[in-house]
Amino acid sequence: MTSTQSSWDIAVIGAGYVGMPHAQTFAEAGKRVVVVDVVDEMVNAINRGESHIQDVPSERLKPLVDSGAITATTDAAVVRDADAIVIAVPTPLSPQREPDVSYIERAAREIAPHLRKGHLVVLESTTYPGTTRDVLRPILEEGSGLRAGTDFHLAFAPERVDPGRQDFTTKTTPKIVGGIDEASTQAAASFYRGALDAVHTVSTSEVAELTKLLENIFRSVNIALVNELAQLCDRMDIDVWEVVDAAATKPFGFMSFKPGPGLGGHCIPLDPYYLSWKAREFDFNTRFVELAGEINNNMPYFCRSVISQALNHGAQKPLRGSKILILGVAYKADINDVRESPAEKIVELLRTAGADVAYHDPNVPEFDGLHSVPLEPEVYDCVAIVTAHSSIDYEDVVRRGKVIVDFRNATRGHEVDGKVWKL
Ligand SMILES: NC(=O)c1ccc[n+]([C@@H]2O[C@H](COP(=O)([O-])OP(=O)(O)OC[C@H]3O[C@@H](n4cnc5c(N)ncnc54)[C@H](O)[C@@H]3O)[C@@H](O)[C@H]2O)c1
Repeated sequence: MTSTQSSWDIAVIGAGYVGMPHAQTFAEAGKRVVVVDVVDEMVNAINRGESHIQDVPSERLKPLVDSGAITATTDAAVVRDADAIVIAVPTPLSPQREPDVSYIERAAREIAPHLRKGHLVVLESTTYPGTTRDVLRPILEEGSGLRAGTDFHLAFAPERVDPGRQDFTTKTTPKIVGGIDEASTQAAASFYRGALDAVHTVSTSEVAELTKLLENIFRSVNIALVNELAQLCDRMDIDVWEVVDAAATKPFGFMSFKPGPGLGGHCIPLDPYYLSWKAREFDFNTRFVELAGEINNNMPYFCRSVISQALNHGAQKPLRGSKILILGVAYKADINDVRESPAEKIVELLRTAGADVAYHDPNVPEFDGLHSVPLEPEVYDCVAIVTAHSSIDYEDVVRRGKVIVDFRNATRGHEVDGKVWKL
């Protein structure tokens, strides 16, 4: 393979929760990065040094843009002038919960005509085993007239970013890399070693694809286990949080997962179905995946029944006509991402039951057609803590509120019998 002097070390396709931290990490490692996205306003904002991604604060982005280390564009043709192309576009589910790889296909069609010999293409979007080789490769080859493995390298390297997390970042989290052949694996590994602390190579792109799914399914299944336990504990009148905390004192063989109102975010609620869909092709039912999905998807319904019970016993009121404040609607604490947030389902169920629902979230000004209201717990019949942002004074919420339903154990240490109801 040959390579010419390029304007960019890396082109990142997709300026989202994955693409932007990537761009920042590589730029801070001294690489020249061009970010490609289909949304004009986002591209213009990035070029002004304004970030829409919480993990990449504008104060860190702006100097990188000003120095020319990061540039954004809507023109996919720039990939021709980059050494490596990293694809980080969405992989959602169809309404029937089947994989939707159309964003990957579209991105591939857009970059294929601009591929040249010596290029490295890496897919980072979470997807089922076989996507890199069987979906991405043919589109790139057909659109470019080049051969993967011979003319350009092709690999899969899953992103493991956990938005909002401070202790591990894109740079410090080990990167899994698997190519469609050994040369692709090595090319991708050497590319990532240029900016990341640790790279772990695997034998094929399929291994890398399945590794990412295993990680997310592991979380989904373990969360389902404690969510099921939480429902049993409710019947047995045992504090599930105390049980989980006590089990977590075991220094080996146990890993703590917390119950909650349901799964959220772009990954854990969706990714497992990528595997169950693919497994059917092999006459195989991934029963753990399906069962975990069933239990986790049921949690908002369980939450509605806990709120209903709390209102019934704590305020002698039915759901219908009650004023309920949802406290926290982001899918997890201290972030502003509401994708797949269980709050959405809970709000819908409460509204359908006739409740008058408002919400407060310091990180989310608008949600589901509503605006965040001031935090005045005393104004509501019930305050339901769905997401426990650390900036909220929960002791004050308990003091001022009438009935508090806590799905996150945020009121730990401030429980008041007959007033605070926990999952
Ligand atoms: N968000 C996470 O925490 C996380 C973590 C690990 C892996 N992932 C995976 O990474 C992938 C991307 O997720 P995300 O959260 O960054 O998504 P996102 O929606 O935040 O960003 C994706 C971006 O891609 C852009 N885009 C779509 N089609 C494009 C195209 N043809 N050309 C250029 N840009 C295009 C969109 O406009 C959007 O800005 C998904 O597969 C996801 O499962 C996400």
